[in-house]
Amino acid sequence: MNSDLFSPVTMGNIKLANRMVMAPMTRNRAGEHNAPHDLNATYYQQRATAGLIITEASQVSTQGVGYPGTPGIYSDEQVVGWRKITDAVHAEGGHIFIQLWYCGRISHPDLLSGNQTPVAPSAIRPEGEVVTPEGAKAFVTPRALEADEIAGIVAQYKHAAGMAKQAGFDGIEVHAANGYLIDQFLRDGSNRRTDQYGGGVENRIRFLNEVLDAVMEVWPSNQVGIRLTPENSFNSMSDSDPLEHFRYFISRLNERNLAYLHILEGDMITKSANIDYRILRDSYNGLYIANNGYDKARAEVSLSKGDSDLIAFGVPFLANPDLVYRYQHDLPLNEANLDTFYGGGAQGYTDYPALHQTTPEPG
Ligand code: PHB
Repeated sequence: MNSDLFSPVTMGNIKLANRMVMAPMTRNRAGEHNAPHDLNATYYQQRATAGLIITEASQVSTQGVGYPGTPGIYSDEQVVGWRKITDAVHAEGGHIFIQLWYCGRISHPDLLSGNQTPVAPSAIRPEGEVVTPEGAKAFVTPRALEADEIAGIVAQYKHAAGMAKQAGFDGIEVHAANGYLIDQFLRDGSNRRTDQYGGGVENRIRFLNEVLDAVMEVWPSNQVGIRLTPENSFNSMSDSDPLEHFRYFISRLNERNLAYLHILEGDMITKSANIDYRILRDSYNGLYIANNGYDKARAEVSLSKGDSDLIAFGVPFLANPDLVYRYQHDLPLNEANLDTFYGGGAQGYTDYPALHQTTPEPG
């Protein structure tokens, strides 16, 4: 029964009860004005035996949104909603970081105030469709940001980081993954700029570095995590040399003493991994969270080989509020219902049964 998965780990000044992280998962169930509400608090509280919860992606401003019903972290009303969640998780002895999000080209004028055109490093239209209030529509060609507009977006991240502090989070995760705005700058398939924000890796990481500098005016570095996806093709993403480019990005992150580096290993679409993540893990000098389809057995192998320090589980936590207890006791898991992943109410959200309601025993 004992395994590393259930051993505590220190992250900055925080002691996590175990190495099981609840991965960020978009559920599209925010309330009015994109504010979290009681139902969301119940959902997170039910899962608070995770060593660390990383919330669903939460837009840093009205212009950062890309989907209906996702929460924001920029208004007072949203802070009130999130405070219920952080209080509920802390009441169970859990810890929770909020993931800060700006969708960039993965959006649509129908979703943005003033029907603005989505922005991106370069005017390259992603393939595929976006869900708008009127149903699915093709992505549009985004507008390439002017260099002098970027400080305004960085300021939105800083504002959101401050709101996250007011809402009582233990830290923030900068979402630099999955084809959203920061990742659009990092990878060369979406960044064709010729100014100081594009070209080589030193320039492509500039926007991320400015965001990190800004949020670290609000949070100590060891309460700021980051998520990267070197080879995820989701959202029309590509890069000419993910291993070398992300080794460089990680070498720059090493300068910062962050809470953790969280990597989605491989490609969500093809379900394959073509780079050796051990190389990236060994390039990083802090806590490494691995994610992508892990179950208990694979997680234990990864931890025992030193391939990771913590494991983020998505769907297993979605469908099993007491996942820690179930893994500890090798109990069967609830099956996830794909039809209720996105949007709706309690069904498929807070009604997955638990076998055990209280905090699992340590170790
Ligand atoms: C999604 O809503 O499909 C989504 C959101 C954030 C991610 C990945 C996927 O990082």
